[in-house]
Amino acid sequence: MTTTNSRSAETETARAASSIHAETTAEKIEHLRSLREQATLGGGERRIDAQHGKGKLTARERLELLLDPSSFVEIDRFVTHRSTDFGLADEKYYGDGVVTGYGTVDGRTVYVFSQDFTVFGGSLSEAHGEKICKVMDLALKNGAPMVGLNDSGGARIQEGVVSLGAYAEIFLRNTLASGVIPQISAILGPCAGGAVYSPAITDFTFMVQDTSFMFVTGPDVVKTVTHEEIDFEGLGGAAVHNSTSGVAHFNAPNEVAAMEQVRRLLAFLPSNNVDDPPARATADPSDRMDDALNSIVPDQANRGYDMHRVIGAIVDDGDFMEVHEQYARNILVGFAHLGGRSVGIVAQQPTVLAGVLDINASVKAARFVRFCDAFNVPIVTFVDVPGFLPGVGQEHGGIIRHGAKLLYAYCEATVPKLTVITRKAYGGAYDVMSSKHIRGDVNLAWPTAEIAVMGIEGAVNIVFRQELAGTEDAAGLRKQLEMDYRERLANPYVAAARGYLDDVIEPRETRPRLISALQMLRNKRDTNPPKKHGNIPL
Ligand code: HXC
Repeated sequence: MTTTNSRSAETETARAASSIHAETTAEKIEHLRSLREQATLGGGERRIDAQHGKGKLTARERLELLLDPSSFVEIDRFVTHRSTDFGLADEKYYGDGVVTGYGTVDGRTVYVFSQDFTVFGGSLSEAHGEKICKVMDLALKNGAPMVGLNDSGGARIQEGVVSLGAYAEIFLRNTLASGVIPQISAILGPCAGGAVYSPAITDFTFMVQDTSFMFVTGPDVVKTVTHEEIDFEGLGGAAVHNSTSGVAHFNAPNEVAAMEQVRRLLAFLPSNNVDDPPARATADPSDRMDDALNSIVPDQANRGYDMHRVIGAIVDDGDFMEVHEQYARNILVGFAHLGGRSVGIVAQQPTVLAGVLDINASVKAARFVRFCDAFNVPIVTFVDVPGFLPGVGQEHGGIIRHGAKLLYAYCEATVPKLTVITRKAYGGAYDVMSSKHIRGDVNLAWPTAEIAVMGIEGAVNIVFRQELAGTEDAAGLRKQLEMDYRERLANPYVAAARGYLDDVIEPRETRPRLISALQMLRNKRDTNPPKKHGNIPL
């Protein structure tokens, strides 16, 4: 087969090599080598230089960073497009704008595709789509994660509906693979139009500052339709999608860091939904107690403390990989190890909005809980929640529906669920946050826990309104009533007396207790009633 490249003089030499008339075995091998060499050049050196000039790496350079050295095995390197319209019959490039195959990360198999912007802007043709689908099918069949590196102008304009169909084939596979193998997307250039829906269905999306963007309709269309003026970065850059829309989970300063982050994330995940996450050796003793935890909760109920410090003091080597770090910062989610075992952590952050549950926090945590449950990652929940956020905006925005997502996610989860109430657990939020009643396996509280229908001040105001109005010493009476309320209701011992808490522990004991609980639950089996699927309130 002859590959021609009418616009790129740089590939002339390689093209000549590809048309060598080979008769002997040695010549045929030489011919193959030259074809392979040609394939690695993608759209040619001029376009590779242009790619580098934009501060971006090539598809193959990215794979080198992502995968273990020399582990990449390419599939379909000689595929080309079949289009004959718009003069494309004469312009073909081996690979057709996407490099696909498999390799290893820390010795574990992953399947990959890496779009090559130097070939028709990485746009997706029928053949390009088929290549991606082939590796997705292999990943699903063989139970290994799928990592997609996206850098594409979207649907191959010259191929029209055929390209749209190819996208739909990918979306279908993303959906069928959801919950079976981890799917990770890195956005390393443009990702526009309907193309955004593949990353959106995958489990985690990485973006890179300044060089990646995602939007359904670009700045020009936005200006025409809504008269809003905005540039690419402002509309769909890494900062926007990490902090405002929540579309992206990780924001890397550059592509090297992005690939490093993907590798790090994979280390917490199993290869598929019937595997356990890999165990990791640690020198951090299982019985380590951290005395600093005993004084971390301030005496004043309204003062915050950084939940990162709590998590860091408890997990192996203080290593916490936060997911969605810049979005809905009133709740923290992410991965860590406890006694060498991978766990998913969900925790209120008292320093942001007092750790209240609002719409964004509920949706963020619900999706994370569902990921952990699908992939056998035990969930550890640290609770310090004053309740759901009041307000017209929240109510009209559907806090009822969105808050229910988190409740639903915790209720349906059958992985080991460990809960530590550090301070407040008020109202419906107490129920939601992995309480015993919704199948929490081990529920612990620190002595600073306050578990009640509402905060002390609010409760006294409502229950004793008449008494407070009818006394001259309202302040004195209030103080007395608040002390009484705390003693009777807002402490952990009422819940512990009923078995809603398994124990009240010193904060410093948390690490050994959690590790022991994980060990105890190692063979946990729990199921939900058979059904096609539930109907989570979307
Ligand atoms: C074919 C494309 C292409 C496309 C870019 N190219 N996009 N070829 N189909 N969709 C080609 C260009 O012709 C050019 O070829 C090379 O890729 C690089 O493009 P440039 O424009 O020079 O690069 P840059 O300036 O960096 O701009 C990148 C870009 C721009 C912002 C992505 O190319 C662009 O706006 N492209 C069109 C994007 C788009 O509207 N796509 C359709 C979206 S809708 P040469 O030969 O010069 O190197 C969609 C629907 C999906 O995708 C539906 C799924 C259901």
